[in-house]
Amino acid sequence: MMMIVVVVGFVIDYRAVNEEYAKKMMGVVDKVLDNLSLGLGLEERVLKDAVGGDGLEYLLKINYYPPCPRPDLALGVVAHTDMSAVTILVPNDVSGLQVFKDDVWFNVKYIPNALIVHIGDQLEILSNGKFKSVLHRTTVNKEKTRMSWPVFCSPPGELVLGPLPQLTNDENHPKFKTKKYKDYQYCKLNKLPQ
Ligand code: OGA
Ligand code: NI
Repeated sequence: MMMIVVVVGFVIDYRAVNEEYAKKMMGVVDKVLDNLSLGLGLEERVLKDAVGGDGLEYLLKINYYPPCPRPDLALGVVAHTDMSAVTILVPNDVSGLQVFKDDVWFNVKYIPNALIVHIGDQLEILSNGKFKSVLHRTTVNKEKTRMSWPVFCSPPGELVLGPLPQLTNDENHPKFKTKKYKDYQYCKLNKLPQ
């Protein structure tokens, strides 16, 4: 009997914490998207609406990278861009994330309480390439376990996304196809041309 009470108590706390975290995370995502819209010279709500508005989907993933005896021979995750609109990532204090810029891999410094924001493929597409989807990978550590908790914020599968018409004209042709997010996902996961 005691056991059940303890387990139930744990589940309730876990759920409450997650709900609170999700709410806070949604607020952060709204602010990030609002400011990115302004950065493109658009009205505040344009990007949030373009990625699905209240239909935006939030997926929390937990990455666990155990210590590795030969970090020089292994990667945690290989180089990739996220297919989301944005990803908000919280790491533990073991560094390992690297981002690619100007032909160089840069180590992302661990800053306590800072959130790491990745621009994902959908924002690159909507902005017609003004925002670049960040190429990133992770290294592993010889002694320490690294963990990270990214939240991938993605449009609903049926939503159609392409370069925003406000950002294309006779000089700026659309650089990306307009398609349903689920079709983009299918091509990316199966390594097919978009
Ligand atoms: C990912 C990712 C980076 C990290 O899960 O897509 O890029 O720091 N993770 O764990
Ligand atoms: Ni990633």
